[in-house]
Amino acid sequence: MVTPIRVAITGAAGQIGYALLPRIANGDMFGPDQPVVLQMLELPIDAAQDALRGVAMELDDCAFPLLHDMVLTSDPNVAFKDANWCLLVGSKPRGPGMERGDLLRENGPIFEAQGKAVNDHAASDVRVAVVGNPCNTNALIAMNWAKDVPNERFSAMTRLDQNRAQAQLAAKAGVHSTAVKNALIWGNHSATQVPDFVNCTIDGRSAADVIGDEAWLTGEFFQTVQQRGAAIIKARGKSSAASAASALIDHVRDLTTPTPNGRWNSVCVPSDGSYDVPEGLISSFPVRADGKGGYEIVQGLELTPFLKEKLAASAAELAHERDEVKALLPS
Ligand code: NAD
Ligand code: LMR
Repeated sequence: MVTPIRVAITGAAGQIGYALLPRIANGDMFGPDQPVVLQMLELPIDAAQDALRGVAMELDDCAFPLLHDMVLTSDPNVAFKDANWCLLVGSKPRGPGMERGDLLRENGPIFEAQGKAVNDHAASDVRVAVVGNPCNTNALIAMNWAKDVPNERFSAMTRLDQNRAQAQLAAKAGVHSTAVKNALIWGNHSATQVPDFVNCTIDGRSAADVIGDEAWLTGEFFQTVQQRGAAIIKARGKSSAASAASALIDHVRDLTTPTPNGRWNSVCVPSDGSYDVPEGLISSFPVRADGKGGYEIVQGLELTPFLKEKLAASAAELAHERDEVKALLPS
């Protein structure tokens, strides 16, 4: 039998967890032949643990062929034990009128404890994807506390923003979303994120040329993608969940399967100084994976002065967030 992958999911009884777990158990994340063990972490309070038990009962009731076992716990050391993937979702979402950065002080401390637990208990090949907001800086905190885990094993999610950009460009061009390739987000998963319309293509041509409306690209398109999370919160009264779970499936698949030639995906990874993003910050870049656990940041993409200026501003915001959480980083 194929050895099951151990997948730790924090905040497993939350909105995203509820949409995510059945998809992982169904094989959507690791493929139709790969059994999984779900190691689910929730807060040590009755309401959260009761909800977690209910989710596990539903997973049992799906009788998923690939679901090998489940672990339900309130202890990060148990949840991350021998985990090959840690999906750090659990944290407070923002409400109407808040920016993601407002969550920094509330959610940041979670990622110190979890970074240490990953370091001490996860499998030697562990990889970590952070979704809980502000996800870039939370990933930075966890990465810094997981001293023995190579930095490149940590990522944060802008795949949802990429999917949003792809959908907006397709709608404007009047094509199906599959005609849009290499949609790309640079920088922070925040209102300063930079959706690239120059290196993205529609039916093989630069999206900027196909759309032919610079004012829309630098105006409405930019703002719609940057503010989509807020728009969902306003409409639903809760932050995005089904689309976030779906994007996390995409994110992990992007990093575990070889990226086709000429393509890339948006992943927030530790900067090596590429595109003038200060080294060490966790920023969204075009990333290509080799399917064997490695990846590279795609080099040599041309940015317009407008996009360069926006990326510099987003990188400055990431540096500011890092300074804000200095007390949560190892000295
Ligand atoms: P939710 O409130 O529905 O669920 C979060 C769950 O996490 C809750 O069940 C809570 O009990 C649990 N939790 C809180 N602290 C925990 C801890 N220390 N350990 C374990 N569990 C803990 O929220 P949600 O809608 O599922 O969103 C989760 C996070 O994901 C939020 O921070 C949200 O902003 C973020 N998010 C990110 C993206 C992205 O694209 N990066 C997209 C959507 C949402
Ligand atoms: C999103 O982009 O939908 C999430 O980050 C939730 C939020 O706060 O916007």
